[in-house]
Amino acid sequence: MALKVSKRGEVSPFIVMDVLRSGNRLQAQGKEVFHLELGQPSTPAPKKVINAALKAANEDAIGYTEALGRSDLREKISEWYWQRYQVQVPRERIVVTTGSSGGFVLAFLAAFDQGDRVALGNPSYPAYRNILRALGITPVGLETSSDTRFQPTPQILNSLNNPVDGLIVANPANPTGCMIEQHDLERLCVAARHRRIRLVSDEIYHGICFDFDAQTALKYDENAIIINSFSKYFCMTGWRVGWMIVPEALLRSVECLAQNMYISAPTMSQIAATAAFDSIDELEQNVFRYRRNRSIILNGLIKMGLKDFAPVDGAFYIYVDVSKHTEDSETFCRDLLLETGVAATPGKDFDPLKGNKSIRLSFSGNPMKIKEAVERLGNWLAK
Ligand SMILES: Cc1ncc(COP(=O)(O)O)c(C=O)c1O
Repeated sequence: MALKVSKRGEVSPFIVMDVLRSGNRLQAQGKEVFHLELGQPSTPAPKKVINAALKAANEDAIGYTEALGRSDLREKISEWYWQRYQVQVPRERIVVTTGSSGGFVLAFLAAFDQGDRVALGNPSYPAYRNILRALGITPVGLETSSDTRFQPTPQILNSLNNPVDGLIVANPANPTGCMIEQHDLERLCVAARHRRIRLVSDEIYHGICFDFDAQTALKYDENAIIINSFSKYFCMTGWRVGWMIVPEALLRSVECLAQNMYISAPTMSQIAATAAFDSIDELEQNVFRYRRNRSIILNGLIKMGLKDFAPVDGAFYIYVDVSKHTEDSETFCRDLLLETGVAATPGKDFDPLKGNKSIRLSFSGNPMKIKEAVERLGNWLAK
């Protein structure tokens, strides 16, 4: 007789990881694969970060840290908020996490109960929806459009028939790269506060902005939970370290949850990350490269007639409408990968309703590879 299997565990796959697996299989068979599906920097962590990790590995016993993280790293993060945003954050409110992914679980558990409703824009990063579901919280998709830069607005919140307990925003967003301008962010924070909605602001792509700077939601809402990470701007994806800024009222429950769920974020990565804020010149060179890659890919898409994409304000993604060619972006991406070696992510990963008409392309990689991938995509579509 089969044993019980939990319903909570039956979440949707993170499709991009499935695409990655298919791409890796093809690569193992000797085929050249162009990884435009993956949203991660292709350059290593800054030199000072690597040196700090090597030194620690040679000299220190790498034990646990306090659940909220090493105090020197929390202090550095606090200084960063003052330098970058002129916002004062006491280090006591900063929690070091196992990437921002670990932060979401802690944030959702601390802020919401089973059965609560948490709003998020369509399209958005799939893990929000999938983690909420696994925790018994109901994700409420908000219909956005290019008029709102695919971001939630106070008007969209007003139009909801039933109240929500939380709202997740990402600025710049994945998969669109769209940002919220400062005054719009302020209006959104005010609107959420009036409705007693807890804001969870995912700021993981801060630093990778092309036309204007991103502001932290903390500037406008003290009760917001801020999520960030060393994975993107700081090029430390596999080091699995990030942080949250948590309102006083949630701090102790986040601490107890963290103690019980993972004890502490990886210690080596915490030590290394303290050097990340002293590496800004090196990191800005990557942003310069992303900017060039963005031009390569945008020009290529326009040339091949794919002109309907969200404004790419930041991050390293383009979310492009391919409905001229398909109404089934999953099959489209599978065929594209098999026939050209170009890996892309189907929009369905980000938007369960309209995502079948779009794909996401990442331009975080090597410019020559991106150039060739765009040529291959153009030739394939022209066939
Ligand atoms: C918007 C967004 N948030 C969070 C994450 C997770 O990042 P990590 O757990 O590496 O910090 C990603 C990863 O792609 C992302 O795109």
